[in-house]
Amino acid sequence: MKKRDFIKNLGAFGLLPFTGNSPLNNEDLLGNHSYTNGNSEEDFWSLIRNQYKLHPDFINLESGYYNIIPEPTLKKYLKHLKRVNLEGSYYMRQHRFIDKDNITEELASFVGCNSKNLIITRNTTESLDLVISGFAWNKGDEAIYAVQDYGSMQDMFEQIEKRHNVTLRKVSVPNHPKNDEELIELYESQITKKTKLIMVSHMINITGHILPVKKICEMAHKHGVKVLVDGAHCIGHFDFKIEDLGCDYYGSSLHKWLATPLGAGLLYVKSEHIPKIWPLLADHEKDPTKIKRLSHTGTHPVHTDLAILDAIEYLNWIGIKKKENRLRYLKTYWQQALKDFPNIVINTSFDSHRSCGIGNVGIRSINPEILAKRLYDEFQIFTVAIDYANVKGCRITPNVFTSIKELDSFITAMKTLAIA
Ligand SMILES: Cc1ncc(COP(=O)(O)O)c(C=O)c1O
Repeated sequence: MKKRDFIKNLGAFGLLPFTGNSPLNNEDLLGNHSYTNGNSEEDFWSLIRNQYKLHPDFINLESGYYNIIPEPTLKKYLKHLKRVNLEGSYYMRQHRFIDKDNITEELASFVGCNSKNLIITRNTTESLDLVISGFAWNKGDEAIYAVQDYGSMQDMFEQIEKRHNVTLRKVSVPNHPKNDEELIELYESQITKKTKLIMVSHMINITGHILPVKKICEMAHKHGVKVLVDGAHCIGHFDFKIEDLGCDYYGSSLHKWLATPLGAGLLYVKSEHIPKIWPLLADHEKDPTKIKRLSHTGTHPVHTDLAILDAIEYLNWIGIKKKENRLRYLKTYWQQALKDFPNIVINTSFDSHRSCGIGNVGIRSINPEILAKRLYDEFQIFTVAIDYANVKGCRITPNVFTSIKELDSFITAMKTLAIA
């Protein structure tokens, strides 16, 4: 099929038409890929795979740390880098802040909130630590989070425990909950009159567990408790709008599933809380109602921010719902193939709405560290070992470039190791 015919056929995949204004032109998207096998779903995803430069020596099933970026976005990113290097201080003085405002507008529209509630940060850690450390704590206040939450945030809570005499209450989230109510009651059971803040993971990183955040926010607000959501893995992974969750604060990393270059994140803060948070780095903006007072960074790689628009454009081209369905399909593919195999333990719920692309699986007789090592050494499959809280296994994170053939290799490897 000629490239021109293929472009006509993109409609069959429900893709957006290319426009003259698109930062990604047809050549960027299609490259030299020859497309000859008709319009099946797998053909579409092999086109996407061809837009990535993948390491030839191993199968990457660890997209949970960060997402490598596709060639069209990489090309644009390098252009931004060259432009900033050419214009130097002129760019920084004349364009940097205007560009950042425009990017924030676009990003707000993409993630489903008002731009007056959103700032671009460098990552989730910065976003969430800004809230945890900048919260107006008083001696004796209490905070709740889960032992499955990300370590750096737990470290920051431990710091405010020492610094402000805040009491920390921890829950342990079951890997296979019966229903949402079980999870809501778990958090509610730790609320006292002194509770000020709950941190909840939108998706637990070690299992891929998607928590019923909206319901947890409704429950917490009835008790006058604020909710900080760790959405590190959610923006660009599945389809939702931040404002629909009803949370007070939401942090995410854009270099994960939005596939921006490394070093981009976001923080959403509900309007009424903006004046109450102390910034991590003080800004010239003194109006307490303006979220910009929270977004000071000093000089940093601004070309990363510029590439956020290109990453949004690329994802819109695929379609977030289409990506969500694909990631859930890939996780379900290996999960179903392994679930009844002797000696294998699946640590991620089988309810489709409780997970998406990330899953966790272990082998009873093999310690996770050894399992990850053997998968890599013997089968050239890269994953990450998880061995804490109630999770013993390897986190398996395919991506839009992952092929079914690669998952078949993973399934064979797991079965071989499980019966050895
Ligand atoms: C649940 C969760 N929260 C926070 C983070 C921190 O993200 P970053 O390193 O991009 O700040 C991660 C990173 O993997 C994570 O999985």
